[in-house]
Amino acid sequence: MKTKPQVFNMINDLKLNEQLIENIKNRSIDQLFIYQQEGAKNYIDNKKDNMNMSNIDDYLSMFKKIGMKKNEKIAILSLGCGDAEQEKYILSKLDPELNIHYYGVDSSLKMLDYAKKNMKDVSFHQDYICADFSSQQFRRHIQSSLSGFDKRIFIFWRTLPNIKLTNIVDTFYNIMEEKDILWMDAKMRSGSTQLSFFQDSELYQKHHLQNPQFIKFCFSSLRAAGFSSTDGEFKIKSAIDPAQKSLECTFIFKLNKTKTLTFNTEILHIDKNEEITVLKIMNFDKKGVIEFFEKRDFHYIGYCEHNRIGQFMFEKKAS
Ligand SMILES: C[S@@+](CC[C@H](N)C(=O)[O-])C[C@H]1O[C@@H](n2cnc3c(N)ncnc32)[C@H](O)[C@@H]1O
Repeated sequence: MKTKPQVFNMINDLKLNEQLIENIKNRSIDQLFIYQQEGAKNYIDNKKDNMNMSNIDDYLSMFKKIGMKKNEKIAILSLGCGDAEQEKYILSKLDPELNIHYYGVDSSLKMLDYAKKNMKDVSFHQDYICADFSSQQFRRHIQSSLSGFDKRIFIFWRTLPNIKLTNIVDTFYNIMEEKDILWMDAKMRSGSTQLSFFQDSELYQKHHLQNPQFIKFCFSSLRAAGFSSTDGEFKIKSAIDPAQKSLECTFIFKLNKTKTLTFNTEILHIDKNEEITVLKIMNFDKKGVIEFFEKRDFHYIGYCEHNRIGQFMFEKKAS
């Protein structure tokens, strides 16, 4: 019988605040800050406009590739689960007799509140972990508490576009054990030519920079740090990452005035025209991603693509 979901909190507000101060000093804010408190609601409101489950059949056919059996104990860990909206739809289509334990992992407690509500009617066991998935503390937790499963599936949905592959691939490598499955989705580039680079970049200029909802969402981490929206404006820088051939669009807040921020006992000075990196959105190249993971001992299992959302499945090789 399904037990009451527990929330295990590894995030300490004081540490988070210290990390935000360090981020401002370095003029680059980690994406996890965007999804705290009001940012969580802004993300969900923003997503409602483009929520589209027409690719649910793709997700279900990817589940078939895993070949889950009723006598197996299966863990599904969703890293950066957010409000678990996709999981709600997809897991409720799986055979309820499967022995699945779902773990929703996110650094935003607010997001986990949304996730628990969304998942309340899903019949599988569930638990939630509020943690930074790239932290050593989280890795130790996974190593000590998530043994004894026949299959472990790590899902990473809609979160890869915000993170550099070089950054996340080692996180995956270190928390996963051999034969664990990694299933991630990613926004794909429309092509690999110079023209497609300009066309894809232009879409971000048009659709994101001029979308007040998106700007509100991007601004939430700056607001939490004490900035006001009249302190500057957003711009985008686009570039191709030569290693994985991905398109990297960086959202930057450029100050139009000198600003002094006060955090308890610390004072930070930011000059007019200084730039703070707030978010990166990556568009990937299929071949580039597969080669990148294969070089790092992940065995490629499969791929499908719908509306420029690519889904990749890999298995961690035995070392
Ligand atoms: C783009 S949202 C995707 C949410 C969800 N998977 C979906 O499909 O809508 C990214 C999520 O990852 C979480 N996140 C970002 N960085 C994280 C980190 N280092 N550790 C844990 N969660 C993180 C954010 O709080 C946010 O909920």
